[in-house]
Amino acid sequence: MKPFTDEQEKTLVAWTKRYPYTNLGLIEALRAVQDWHRMITPEAASAVADIFKLPFNHVWGVATFFPTFTRWKTGQKRVGVCHGLSCFLKGSGKAERCLEKTLGVPKKQATPDGKLSWETMECLGACEQAPALLVNDRLVGPATDEAIAKLKDLK
Ligand code: FES
Repeated sequence: MKPFTDEQEKTLVAWTKRYPYTNLGLIEALRAVQDWHRMITPEAASAVADIFKLPFNHVWGVATFFPTFTRWKTGQKRVGVCHGLSCFLKGSGKAERCLEKTLGVPKKQATPDGKLSWETMECLGACEQAPALLVNDRLVGPATDEAIAKLKDLK
């Protein structure tokens, strides 16, 4: 079974033509795949490699290097708690336990309705708000018990 619809395949082909060098559009193409499937599977990476006429290992190397791309299925909303040094010292471990309890799923697993998932992240550049909490690409602020409780309203 093809991993992409015809429309999605057209989008990926368009990324091969966007820049003077074909593989410059690869990250954007993988971002699109991540959005569609909420993960990158080896099958999808292989299909992208065919479209970009690149070796599978090249595409898989990119897909497994950047934390934006996951090999596990994220929720529609990705919650991230930073566990960099500043955030660790300011209680990211407690925030992780609170996330697991509040959302009812372990790290890197989506809620049964597929709406939310949570993961740990490296320094988000917001150490002054430690432990920093992110929802998709938006910084929410410190990962307090109250901020984490509000995540359930995002569903
Ligand atoms: S260490 Fe967490 S934002 Fe910098």
